[in-house]
Amino acid sequence: MKKYIENNKDKFIEELIELLKIPSVSADSKFNADVARAAEFVKSSLLDAGVDTAEICPTKGHPVVYGEKIINPDYPTILVYGHYDVQPADPYELWDSPPFEPVIKNNKIYARGAADDKGQFYMHVKAFETLLQCNALQCNVKFMIEGEEEVGSENLAIFVQENKERLKSDEILISDTSMISLDTPSITTGLRGLSYMEVEVTGPNRDLHSGVYGGAVANPINVLCDMIASLIDENGKITVAGFYDKVIELSSEVRNKINDAPFSLDEYKKDLDIDEVQGETGYTTVERSGIRPTLDVNGIWGGYIGEGAKTVLPSKAYAKISMRLVPDQVSSEITALFEKHFMSIAPKSVKVKVTPHHGGEPAATSTDSKSYKAASRAFEKVWGKTPIPTKDGGSIPIVALFKEVLGLDALLMGFGLNSDAIHSPNEHYGIENYLKGIETITAFYQEYVK
Ligand code: BES
Ligand code: MN
Ligand code: MN
Repeated sequence: MKKYIENNKDKFIEELIELLKIPSVSADSKFNADVARAAEFVKSSLLDAGVDTAEICPTKGHPVVYGEKIINPDYPTILVYGHYDVQPADPYELWDSPPFEPVIKNNKIYARGAADDKGQFYMHVKAFETLLQCNALQCNVKFMIEGEEEVGSENLAIFVQENKERLKSDEILISDTSMISLDTPSITTGLRGLSYMEVEVTGPNRDLHSGVYGGAVANPINVLCDMIASLIDENGKITVAGFYDKVIELSSEVRNKINDAPFSLDEYKKDLDIDEVQGETGYTTVERSGIRPTLDVNGIWGGYIGEGAKTVLPSKAYAKISMRLVPDQVSSEITALFEKHFMSIAPKSVKVKVTPHHGGEPAATSTDSKSYKAASRAFEKVWGKTPIPTKDGGSIPIVALFKEVLGLDALLMGFGLNSDAIHSPNEHYGIENYLKGIETITAFYQEYVK
């Protein structure tokens, strides 16, 4: 099998590059035709790889691509999940090469979606092809590749509920997370959830001259900044009433284990060009970004931002605010708590509107399962090291829903690196990660049926 991968590596890379050329940005309707084209590409690639059937399943939003190969109903069935949609590539000017014109530099493929998630789900398609070509497939395989992960997977949730029978399987396999490094393989056992909203603060009914009215009428930007600043206290704790009520405090044993994983704070700071980290008192950087809930402003705007200076006291100010959640926080509950709290801290001088966006629930998976153990052995075979279980700070909304609707934990076998710049300019994916990932996935299938 290693040989098949080695012999076909150029083809595997070229195919991925073709997929990366399609700007399948789910958030922006201007790219709808491209998203549809990416779905077609995924369908054909599944058929080329050897599935019995593949179809494009329409939803209220972007389609889900579903394909399967049933070799024997008595054999175990693996459901592979991934997403073919990508984040917007903005700001384009910060890319060294255009985001949808993939280039290979320093043995890495640079393009939007290279690591998140096209490069990662495509490894599964190529691992499947490899197993078939080498007559080594001893599982049924179902692929469900969606086009709306980056916008919250709300239509996929409906699709899963409506297709429980069709999706019936023994294991769910996902590569959409990261590993510690090429020297230290890891398997993700936890994801954070998400609450996301937009807030609007209105002061006077129109923009005002800041000399004529300034000092006497509330400036919504000043007020919004005050309100936001009050959401986190001096110990890095979120002040939204009730926010921590359902947070499971992990035992020191579990926390020690998390902190045992190799991590260099110096390298972390150097990589980001920061002199100091910050966060919740009493927790390490690894804990702060993996097992603790957070609140961040993702964008803030209002007033005059054009060239030069305009003296204006604006009528409105806006911000997009998100919270990362941990077990057992519930996204809709946190959104409601936030809304209530945010209204309660608004001074009478302004009006406040909170509009919730998509969310997602946190997830935690076991290291004791048959699939985790098989994956662990697969990593040992290919990387020569036992993978370390880690908690990732990102979110994949469908994982908690899989548990709820299908009763299955997902195996989060990601091969990305935190340095891949996902969602950022110059996103890239290492060719070594890609090829070794394909090999590890084929090894997983073999270990799983042992
Ligand atoms: N693949 C990421 C999530 C991720 C990245 C998990 C790295 C672990 C490590 C996924 O595509 C993503 O970006 N999810 C969004 C959530 C979504 C609801 C917009 C996120 O985490 O912001
Ligand atoms: Mn992803
Ligand atoms: Mn993403």
